[in-house]
Amino acid sequence: LRGKYIEAIAGAADEAALEELRLAAVGKKGEVSLKMRELGKMSPEERQVAGPALNALKDEINAALAARKAALGDAALDERLKSEWLDVTLPSRPRRQGTIHPVSQVTEEVTAIFADMGFRVAEGPQIETDWYNFDALNIPGHHPARAEMDTFYMARQEGDNRPPHVLRTHTSPVQIRSMEAGGAPTRIICPGRVYRADYDQTHTPMFHQVEGLAIDRDISMANLKWVLEEFFTAFFGTSVKTRFRASHFPFTEPSAEVDIQCSFEGGTVKVGEGDDWLEVLGSGMVHPDVLRAGKIDPDEWQGFAFGMGIDRIAMLKYGIPDLRAFFESDLRWLRHYGFAA
Ligand code: PHE
Repeated sequence: LRGKYIEAIAGAADEAALEELRLAAVGKKGEVSLKMRELGKMSPEERQVAGPALNALKDEINAALAARKAALGDAALDERLKSEWLDVTLPSRPRRQGTIHPVSQVTEEVTAIFADMGFRVAEGPQIETDWYNFDALNIPGHHPARAEMDTFYMARQEGDNRPPHVLRTHTSPVQIRSMEAGGAPTRIICPGRVYRADYDQTHTPMFHQVEGLAIDRDISMANLKWVLEEFFTAFFGTSVKTRFRASHFPFTEPSAEVDIQCSFEGGTVKVGEGDDWLEVLGSGMVHPDVLRAGKIDPDEWQGFAFGMGIDRIAMLKYGIPDLRAFFESDLRWLRHYGFAA
């Protein structure tokens, strides 16, 4: 038996062959096991010789099995190490992480610059009553400005006696809300989404504005001009001249549209140089009726207000020609401008 198994075990080709040999020799019905069972039928003399011999053989076979198994394991490992290998010097695969959207980034920058000048952030609802969006801002029902704004009206059910609601067409209603809530003096900015039914290269039905409002006892247009020039210089990182053009808004008197200095040469807009001008905001001194709507006494207080397009200044800062791209969530576009990894 010894001759039969020990050599066979040493030469077993794989684990399956080894297992077969184990069963045949020392398994329950293996040859060595059967022989051991026969010990009971032997005479004591015979048993004294055969017993230890069989036990020794069993131990030897088990040891040979274990040795061969270990050797096969090593060989398998060697084989794997030879065929598979890992180049630890390979660069890792890029991991794509989310990034801040350019409009959010610019909103944060704008907020931080105005915060340094003492402006607090105020907020208002995007679904607004027509009173806050229009009437309180001196735009009565028949006023042409309502039609000009391409307003989205909320659908109304029959018998609904709540006031009509609109998607706010500008951030100016937040002027009224913060006057009501905080009185005077006050200095707020309100960045947020606004909505108008308009769509082309420079207009999307949803876009972003930042409203500014400063009310105190003797605020003037001069303060407004200083604040805006300070803002643009900080935002564009270069000194930027502004140009005030007389204009008209129902909620400011006098009113001005503000242009920033730039050059259009070579197809790209460069802010802070050249002698072209680009309109970026509307502004003026808060109309007395608007102060009254916000429960502030116009005989005691006055203020300036402005409304600026956030997307527009983001386009200028990053040299982006088409506003619509901001809102299409196209990763290739975002990556091209460095806004996504
Ligand atoms: N609300 C105006 C607009 O959307 C901008 C503006 C704000 C003008 C405040 C004057 C004062 O066009």
